[in-house]
Amino acid sequence: MSAQEDIYTHGHHESVLRSHTSRTAANSAAYLVPHLTHGLSVLDVGAGPGTITADFARLVAPGQVLGLDRAPEVVAAATAHAAELHLNNLSFETGNIYDLDFPDGEFDVVHAHQVLQHLTDPIGALREMRRVAKPGGIVAVRDADFHGMSWYPQLPELDDWMDLYQELARHNRAEPDAGRRLVHWAQAAGFTDITPSSANWLYATDEDRAWHAGVWADRVVHSAFAEQSMAYGLADAGRLQELSDGWREWGTAPDGWFLIPNGEIIARV
Ligand SMILES: C[S@@+](CC[C@H](N)C(=O)[O-])C[C@H]1O[C@@H](n2cnc3c(N)ncnc32)[C@H](O)[C@@H]1O
Repeated sequence: MSAQEDIYTHGHHESVLRSHTSRTAANSAAYLVPHLTHGLSVLDVGAGPGTITADFARLVAPGQVLGLDRAPEVVAAATAHAAELHLNNLSFETGNIYDLDFPDGEFDVVHAHQVLQHLTDPIGALREMRRVAKPGGIVAVRDADFHGMSWYPQLPELDDWMDLYQELARHNRAEPDAGRRLVHWAQAAGFTDITPSSANWLYATDEDRAWHAGVWADRVVHSAFAEQSMAYGLADAGRLQELSDGWREWGTAPDGWFLIPNGEIIARV
């Protein structure tokens, strides 16, 4: 399998996009926002449905913002959403992070959110991001760290969900514990000026818990997570349904807590 044939563990089912479209620059890229000044050009790689990308366009206008994704269906969704926003400095295209179709030094900022964890060659991807960033520009990356996640109550179904998620991602030769590896990957890609940080997503209010539980209860039975788990022989429909029920049970716990740590780096070119 070549890097270009990487398998994306989540796919783009509604239950996945429900999660990704909730993302904003404020809740997912606060570490980068202070660097985004008017007039900068931004490339957002693996932009998905592009809600973070659209916020970037507002922050750097009139600078141009381009969102890129390998999946044409999500590029179409992002393009349709962007048309409703009437942001004339925002566009979306298909493209591959390993082989960006741009000259060297094209963008002031090159960003990827929750993308490197899905790749078989995150260091190669960072090298390519660095190539298209201007000298003095920024490569900004943020990824969750799955084994760093913690939750309460300690339901066995959630432990089993974590075990299956790890097994599935690793079957796709990806690295779900990406957050803790970002500095290492950036150093290996040749960066020497790296500013690390971290920020959490927390689901612990009734509203946030219900939302997060609903997303995962649906994802484990309806999304590519379910299809790939069964196709690889890692889980059957019965186990997936138990995981889904476990997520729903967690979502009704009045004292429920789910913490997702994210690693972040600002790497200067
Ligand atoms: C977890 S989603 C993140 C989407 C968005 N950045 C966000 O945070 O909402 C990862 C995205 O990376 C895309 N992707 C995976 N491999 C890619 C590659 N080799 N080149 C470009 N995009 C890729 C997937 O199609 C998916 O839309």
